[in-house]
Amino acid sequence: MNPVTQKMQQMLQRTRDYWRTDRSWDIANPHLRSRDALDFSHGIALYLEGITVSFDGFRALNDLTLYVRTGELRCIIGANGAGKTTMMDVITGKLRPDSGQAYFGQSMNLLAMNESEISEAGIGRKFQKPTVLANFSVFDNLELSLRMDKSVFSSLTARLTGEQRDRIEEVLAIVGMTEDRHLIAGNLSHGKKQWLEIGILLIQDPYLLLVEAPVAGMTVEGTELSAELLVSLAGERSVVVVEHDMEFVRSIARTVTVLHQGSVLAEGSMDEIQADARVREVYLGKA
Ligand SMILES: Nc1ncnc2c1ncn2[C@@H]1O[C@H](COP(=O)(O)OP(=O)(O)OP(=O)(O)O)[C@@H](O)[C@H]1O
Ligand SMILES: [Mg+2]
Repeated sequence: MNPVTQKMQQMLQRTRDYWRTDRSWDIANPHLRSRDALDFSHGIALYLEGITVSFDGFRALNDLTLYVRTGELRCIIGANGAGKTTMMDVITGKLRPDSGQAYFGQSMNLLAMNESEISEAGIGRKFQKPTVLANFSVFDNLELSLRMDKSVFSSLTARLTGEQRDRIEEVLAIVGMTEDRHLIAGNLSHGKKQWLEIGILLIQDPYLLLVEAPVAGMTVEGTELSAELLVSLAGERSVVVVEHDMEFVRSIARTVTVLHQGSVLAEGSMDEIQADARVREVYLGKA
């Protein structure tokens, strides 16, 4: 799409958003969309309340209400079509719901923000399919992510500062890829591509990390290392993991939310979820 058309469409969308009755007036104040405006004082990172998304009358999300605490590692499970990806699309601004509220912390209205504003505010999303730059090294992938980060914006030609190098080293260590820094990303194993992708997100220092299908297609060892990684990432930030592999979910989960037909069917510990008759009927029984 050419930039002028894109700009026009954005303006049109903003005008529409502006006049929606369920919209608060903070759209007029850009400050409320920056990181400085984040307020986690109530211990809640994400509020989704009464979110409904319809596709031609079919409700992919149906009055969905869900809260994620700061520092929490939350697993979301649910059968194919339960609405997991649609939920991620709403949180990241890819999709506007028909109704409901979505807040990042106490005061940041996600429904008044576009995708890049949401990502800059500190919500990172890892998609199912890795999107690393295949022809670049591991280090270069991280460096590019750092240069794209608006909060530390540096031109592509400027040399990295010591602080920036330290940040890249730190992230390499977190994802266990210090030794792999010179490898070409396209040649990495499936598992390592996934970790690099998480590293690319971590460079941007998100407060909320959304991770879809992190261990699909991974070896047993890769799955175990991924579990350790995701557990270690929570605490400092909130991590929401969507995954079908129940063994994996059991190995990392503190709280599990079961989605069914676009709403929360059950929420609790893995033991509580597995003992829940409704969950067994609609999900686990068939798994
Ligand atoms: N763009 C779209 N147009 C029409 N229907 C859609 C669209 N996107 C999703 N849906 C429908 O909404 C429902 C929820 O889909 P969603 O992708 O959120 O499910 P999911 O829980 O992520 O499933 P899976 O486990 O298969 O990834 C499905 O019935 C799907 O077919
Ligand atoms: Mg999905």
